[in-house]
Amino acid sequence: MSTRLLDKVAIITGAGSGMGKSIAIAYANEGAKVVLADVNATTLDEVVTEITASGHSATSVVADMSKSADIKALIETAVNTYGQLDILVNNAGIMDNFKTVGNVTDDLWDKVIAINLTGPFQACREAINVMKDQKNGGIIINNASVGGLYGARGGAAYAASKHGLVGLTKNIAATYGTFGNIRCNAIAPGGVATNIGNTITDPDPLGGQAIAAAGSMDAPMGQPEQIAAVAVFLASDESSFVNGDIIKADGGWTAR
Ligand SMILES: NC(=O)c1ccc[n+]([C@@H]2O[C@H](COP(=O)([O-])OP(=O)(O)OC[C@H]3O[C@@H](n4cnc5c(N)ncnc54)[C@H](O)[C@@H]3O)[C@@H](O)[C@H]2O)c1
Repeated sequence: MSTRLLDKVAIITGAGSGMGKSIAIAYANEGAKVVLADVNATTLDEVVTEITASGHSATSVVADMSKSADIKALIETAVNTYGQLDILVNNAGIMDNFKTVGNVTDDLWDKVIAINLTGPFQACREAINVMKDQKNGGIIINNASVGGLYGARGGAAYAASKHGLVGLTKNIAATYGTFGNIRCNAIAPGGVATNIGNTITDPDPLGGQAIAAAGSMDAPMGQPEQIAAVAVFLASDESSFVNGDIIKADGGWTAR
């Protein structure tokens, strides 16, 4: 067994599917005690069962990342169960059917911003207030997107939420990383084979046109495990001098 995260306590949100599930399994395999959160209790249970069946420690909290009370309960569960919190991975997120500014409703805008940006901010706040008093500080990893770096990888709300998450990452790094012992980085995945694609049920024609023009139709497709490998690196001492960075993992899509 590899032990790069031995006895670290790690929260992973959106752990019932896709990249969150892969990150949870990878962290457990590296020796971390994982606290998994998802709004979907069924898939969350399945992942916890898979991890504990392989002899690792996992706890779950059904949590909606758009609800501050759920986020507080999640952080408290980690600390009450394991006595510390070393790693927070803000991974849960949703897409927006590529809706353009002219077509996005207030409800959709508010929902995407709540789950993709406000929830991660609140989780960072609660986690930082635990981590800053710990001898070894802590590590925060935000799962952003190439949609947090470029304009046409999602709709208006998705782009705004992920650009916001990138800004939040840099602000935390520049404050709590530079003047404290909390490192904060983000991952910007390109196309990854997960369940999120199934949520694109009503794509906006103009939004879709812009995304296609950005080369999305023949973009390289990654696997969740390839993003989990980046998340292990960012959570381990191997990345001890990496702070405030946004690591693209897109198979070279945006290099073209
Ligand atoms: N798949 C891609 O191509 C891609 C590319 C770039 C970035 N991302 C980002 O990666 C992250 C993970 O997405 P994925 O592709 O693994 O998708 P996924 O749909 O497979 O998994 C997302 C998980 O988040 C959970 N979730 C959704 N809303 C939630 C909420 N309010 N509270 C708690 N959990 C919630 C879902 O139940 C699901 O288990 C997202 O932030 C997404 O924006 C995905």
